[in-house]
Amino acid sequence: MASTKNHDIKDPGLAEAGRQRIEWALREMPVLKLIGERFAREKPLSGIRIAACLHITTETANLALTLQAGGAETILCASNPLSTQDEVAAALVEYGIPTNAIKGEDSATYYEHINTALAQEPHITVDDGADLVTTLHTKRDDLASNIIGGTEETTTGVIRLRSLEKSGELKYPIIAINDAETKYLFDNRYGTGQSTIDGITRATNILWAGRKLVVCGYGWCGHGIAMRAKGLGAHVIVTEVKPVRALEAVMDGYQVMPLMEAAKVGDIFITISGDKNVIDKAHLQVMKDGALLANSGHFNVEINIPALESLSRSRREARPFVEEFTLNDGRRLYLLGEGRLINLAAAEGHPASVMDMSFANQALCMEYMAKNRGSLETRVYPVPVEIDREVARLKLDAMGISIDKLTPEQEKYLKSWQEGT
Ligand SMILES: NC(=O)c1ccc[n+]([C@@H]2O[C@H](COP(=O)([O-])OP(=O)(O)OC[C@H]3O[C@@H](n4cnc5c(N)ncnc54)[C@H](O)[C@@H]3O)[C@@H](O)[C@H]2O)c1
Repeated sequence: MASTKNHDIKDPGLAEAGRQRIEWALREMPVLKLIGERFAREKPLSGIRIAACLHITTETANLALTLQAGGAETILCASNPLSTQDEVAAALVEYGIPTNAIKGEDSATYYEHINTALAQEPHITVDDGADLVTTLHTKRDDLASNIIGGTEETTTGVIRLRSLEKSGELKYPIIAINDAETKYLFDNRYGTGQSTIDGITRATNILWAGRKLVVCGYGWCGHGIAMRAKGLGAHVIVTEVKPVRALEAVMDGYQVMPLMEAAKVGDIFITISGDKNVIDKAHLQVMKDGALLANSGHFNVEINIPALESLSRSRREARPFVEEFTLNDGRRLYLLGEGRLINLAAAEGHPASVMDMSFANQALCMEYMAKNRGSLETRVYPVPVEIDREVARLKLDAMGISIDKLTPEQEKYLKSWQEGT
């Protein structure tokens, strides 16, 4: 039987500070709050064990409390070694939610924590980047038969899980939370946009106005970062590999060019592509002295850090989350937050108000999986459209915004083909 005393955090003494921050975040999460109140009455997750690998933030704490209200037994571990808020982890343990996460943990501890979460023998897995599901599939596939389903929070995780599905090796159904409109249009765009700028500002205290910012990748996250940086007065250059997205960036008013050209002129570089070695050795070799390098994509592989190390004669911490690399030719390049997602490493991640929608999708999809236990196929599903729409409706309600309704005449018109000019 799964054990219940299984947590590993930095310092239990931080719990009170964590509790205050979790409560503050809940003020901004009215949709999740409503769901939590209903869950407390209906207990849709009663008897269900959930292993959740998420960034340990105030918003995640409110999701975990919502699941707890719904009757679930949840165990948490971090989805990134640098994204944990230690005071939040401490508070979660006090709330009775075993949490395994310490900011700055090494890779061995990170995977040890994932294994502790899996040892809870979950019925539902919740992932952000697919490390938990990958570990389960490669090392603990004995657990799969017990699992109702899983959810995946981010673009990179959904890509990995679709590839697992394609290889025929996926062992249980997954719902791709990232692909809900009420997730990627808001969390990826407005959340990553604001919080990435926030992380870099907190780490460096730079002025954005007048700087040349190079955004590598113009997906929904890249859209948000470019838009917010432009608003602060930065000159934004976008690099892309997809023609349509590059064209969109041009018409959104940005300069578009190959990274090899942008590398020579950029003051700040942000990778947000979900791809590997986007900033590679050749780019590092031509960058200006003093350039800042940050990543906000899921994994720390977007900037070729081994290449940066090989080009450097020395390195030192210039400020917290800012490492100065002095290259053999004397130029200095600054790597922020170890090349890990800068918005979570150096700031607090997305504001709660936007995570309200992402995590409302999570909670409602877990309820959906519990209700449809046994009837889902082993594949990667989109978020049911009724859930996506319900989250938007509840968010508008919470914001005090009402919208129009189609008249019967309009409904008929929009479904017909007979009427023309
Ligand atoms: N920091 C956060 O809090 C946060 C939040 C949400 C998503 N993410 C992560 O951010 C990354 C991007 O997410 P998204 O939803 O914008 O993805 P997306 O797939 O919509 O966009 C990525 C873009 O990068 C482009 N790209 C790929 N390789 C490239 C290269 N070598 N050079 C230039 N462009 C390249 C792609 O063509 C694509 O347009 C993912 O890893 C995702 O998991 C991070």
